[in-house]
Parts: sequence; C-alpha cells; structure tokens
Amino acid sequence: MRLLALVLLLTGIAVHAVIKDMGAPNWNCDPEVMARSKSVPTSAHSVRFADIKVIGALGDSLTAANGAGAEPGDPLAVILQYRGLAFQIGGDKSLDQHITLANVMRKFNPNIIGYSQGIGSENVWEVAHLNMGVPGDESKDIAKQARNLVTAMKAHSEIDIKKDWKLVNIFIGANDICVYCEDKYFNATAPHGPTTFEKNIIKAVQILKDNLPRTIVSLTGMFNMRMLRKIDHKKYFCEGLHIYECDCESNKVFTDDDIQQVCFGYMDAEKDIQTQGIFDTTDDFTFVVQPFFNGILDPPYAANGDVDMTFFAPDCFHFSAYGHANIGMHLWNTIIQPVGAKQTSVNLSDPTVGLHCPSKSCPFFPTTKNSQKLRGSFDS
Ligand SMILES: *[C@@H]1O[C@H](CO)[C@@H](O)[C@H](O)[C@H]1NC(C)=O
Ligand SMILES: *[C@@H]1O[C@H](CO)[C@@H](O)[C@H](O)[C@H]1NC(C)=O
Repeated sequence: MRLLALVLLLTGIAVHAVIKDMGAPNWNCDPEVMARSKSVPTSAHSVRFADIKVIGALGDSLTAANGAGAEPGDPLAVILQYRGLAFQIGGDKSLDQHITLANVMRKFNPNIIGYSQGIGSENVWEVAHLNMGVPGDESKDIAKQARNLVTAMKAHSEIDIKKDWKLVNIFIGANDICVYCEDKYFNATAPHGPTTFEKNIIKAVQILKDNLPRTIVSLTGMFNMRMLRKIDHKKYFCEGLHIYECDCESNKVFTDDDIQQVCFGYMDAEKDIQTQGIFDTTDDFTFVVQPFFNGILDPPYAANGDVDMTFFAPDCFHFSAYGHANIGMHLWNTIIQPVGAKQTSVNLSDPTVGLHCPSKSCPFFPTTKNSQKLRGSFDS
C-alpha cells in the first residue's frame, strides 16, 4: 500500500511539477496598519483593510481564471476555470505561494468570506463563492452578474448585508473589444462603443448600490489590447487560437490603432464614472478605478528579449498562474495608492517589485474622498 502511494505521489509530482507561480513569503505590514477599526466604520472613506469582511468579483474569463493552472503545451485546459488562482479573488494556496488580492486581504482578515478555491464554474458555490465572473461575458452581461452577486450574498447567512463591509472587484471589457469590429457603425454610442460600455458598467454598479450598503467597488482599469497582437507576432499557433477566441483581435481591417483607440475610450469611460461621482452620493458606498494597466503598451518580456510566455496560459491569451500573481501584486499596490496619484503603468516584466504596505498615517482604503489627506502622507 505504502509503495503504491509513493508511486502515485511521484507520478503526481512528475505530472504537476512545472506550473510557475509567484508568492510573497512572510509578507506583513506594521501591526497598526494591519489592525481593524475599534468600531465598525459607517463611512466608505474610513474603512481599514481589516474591516472588510466580504470579497466579491464580476468579470469574464480573466476573472474566472481560465487556463491559469494549465500546464505548458495544454491549450485544451483553457476551458477549465481555475477560479482559485484569479488575481482579483482567488484563494488557492496562500499569499506565501500565490499573490492575489484575496490572499492579501486574508492577511488583514483571515475570516474574509467570498474568495474562490479550486476549479469550477460560477454556479458552484464551493468553488466560486462570490466570484461571479463568466467566461465570454461582455460589459452588457455584468448587470446580471451583479444581481447574482446580490442574491448570493443574501442567501448566505454568515454575511450581514447591512453591517459587513464588502469589496466588489470588477474587470471587464476584453470581450467587448473582441466583437467591436462586428458593430454596424463605429462611434461612441455603437453597441460596443465607449459610451455604451460606460452605461453598462453604471447599470451594474447601480444594482450593487441599490442592494448592498457598506460596499466599496474597485474596478481594475481596462488594458490596451494592442499588446496581444505583439504576442501573436510570428507565433502562428497563438494566432490560430486568437481568431477563435477573439475575433477582432485578428481582424486585419481593424488596425492596431483602432484597437488602441477603443481601449483608450473604455479607460476614459471608466475614469468618467469615478470623476462624475455618481456612486459617491451616499457615505456608505463608493467606486474607485485602479488604472495600472492603462499605459502598458508592451507584453511582459523575458530576460532574452522575447515575449515572456510564462505570463500566459497555453492559448497565449489568458493569464497563467504566474501572470495572475504578477497582476495581483500590481492591483494591490495600486489599490493602496491615493486616488489622483495612482500608477497608470507598471512593469510586467519585473517580478521583483514586491507588495507594498498601506500608509501608516492614513491606513484606509483609498477613495475619492479620503485621498486628499492620503496624498500628503503617502510613504511608499
Ligand atoms: C453613431 O452612429 C449612428 C449610426 O450612424 C447614429 O445613429 C448615431 O447618432 C451616432 N451617434 C453619435 C454620438 O454620433
Ligand atoms: C522592466 O523590468 C525589466 C526586468 O527587471 C527591466 O529589464 C526593464 O528595463 C524594465 N523596464 C522599464 C521600462 O523599466
């Protein structure tokens, strides 16, 4: 029996040894920064990270983490949703081995509810928990996800909808770009134009605001999908998969500049939602954009100057476990920066950046209303 177990163990190791990942071993901040408030805050602008009891997410396959745990050379595994590895809400392993926003949040509140674990779809509670991301979804679909998130939170009695502080992360838009070229006309109000994109996000966030008091919505800003064409360059295998997965990305009539312009339009739309303050009308709800992807024009490169394919799943489109960890690191580092002074570009090629800590003199989740103070005291 023992020998058989050993053989199985060794086979298991041989098969599963090659997944590259990135953790933040023994990461910690000053105990004062890690502490929760003495009493539960009533304003979204004085929430410490340890006050957050619930984490949720809306998005597409980059939130469902399709292919993140796939082994190199196995593009079929991209149909699998490795939710536990997702940069916004994955809770597989621990922060020591795999960086995600949820794993960072668990350092502040080990009892936080909602992070995903393992492999499965959004309707399998034991895997997804509050990760409502659906592969293939566009911005028009996240209103439905928002309703599902509200229903899921209400269905779980361990969540106190009125009292608990909730963090909802959104990352959407890639699939809108993938079908943008199919619109019958092209302007802001086209079915996949920036104005329509903005309306779709507003609709979803309004559903959250109407149903979820004490909620901070953190939107991971759109990325420039022009970058993906650089990954395709001379990789015919990737190109074939991209035609299947992202039609407009491989449509030659739709130029690199066209792709970039629409992506910039989406970024402006996201910022506009924050600037308009439409979700800052009550004190117990707010909306913040994390724009670190905005200015990135190049895919990550390896030391030899080639595109770093270890950042991507075997379809050269989705992120690998390492890609999710790298992005999770930048997302966290951006979240703790004050609104108005957030990084709008990061170096995806540099894995040594590390996780930063919230400012000791203003240890709150940075929002549009508390960032004035924060900007003066930020010490990172
Ligand atoms: C966009 O184009 C459509 C179709 O040509 C048109 O009906 C609509 O008014 C245009 N919208 C804007 C904002 O220009
Ligand atoms: C990004 O990081 C890589 C790896 O450390 C480095 O070689 C490169 O120069 C950096 N790029 C920029 C623009 O700083």
